[in-house]
Amino acid sequence: MTDAATGFTLLGGEPGVRALVDRFYDLMDLEPAYAGLRRLHPHQLDGSRDKLHWFLCGWLGGPDLYQQRFGHPRLRARHLPYAIGIAERDQWLACMKQALAENGVEAALAERLHTAFSGTADWMRNKGG
Ligand code: HEM
Repeated sequence: MTDAATGFTLLGGEPGVRALVDRFYDLMDLEPAYAGLRRLHPHQLDGSRDKLHWFLCGWLGGPDLYQQRFGHPRLRARHLPYAIGIAERDQWLACMKQALAENGVEAALAERLHTAFSGTADWMRNKGG
């Protein structure tokens, strides 16, 4: 993958990543299928939106906005306070997949991102079941 073809640039840079994150959290709020995932999150999602946006910009090959603010993400450690098993992982992935589709992300890119998200989400599991 060349620099010009990172997920970050293909999604449309910062505005595209932000639109994806916003759709992801809007769906988490709206869809009964993601109620279990929603319950793990704070009442106010503004901070969650900002953090996922900053993180994904770097994770997708763009500027390291999260690291600049908070240092190394230590993503698995930061998720340890939340009980994450297969159901939570699968809700997160389904919510993100729906956000990719509803934001009109091209199918091949959406598939590539889904595969990448799947690896990270599975690594976040910290309980059986
Ligand atoms: C596997 C299922 C997952 C669950 C149930 C989950 C749940 C959560 C929850 C409850 C928070 C706290 C939100 C807040 O403090 O506002 C959080 C934070 C966060 N999550 Fe996840 N998450 C999952 C997967 C992922 C994945 C796959 C990524 C990245 C690709 C990710 C990236 C983040 C980031 C960057 C934060 C902010 C960390 C911080 O600075 O506190 N999460 N997640």
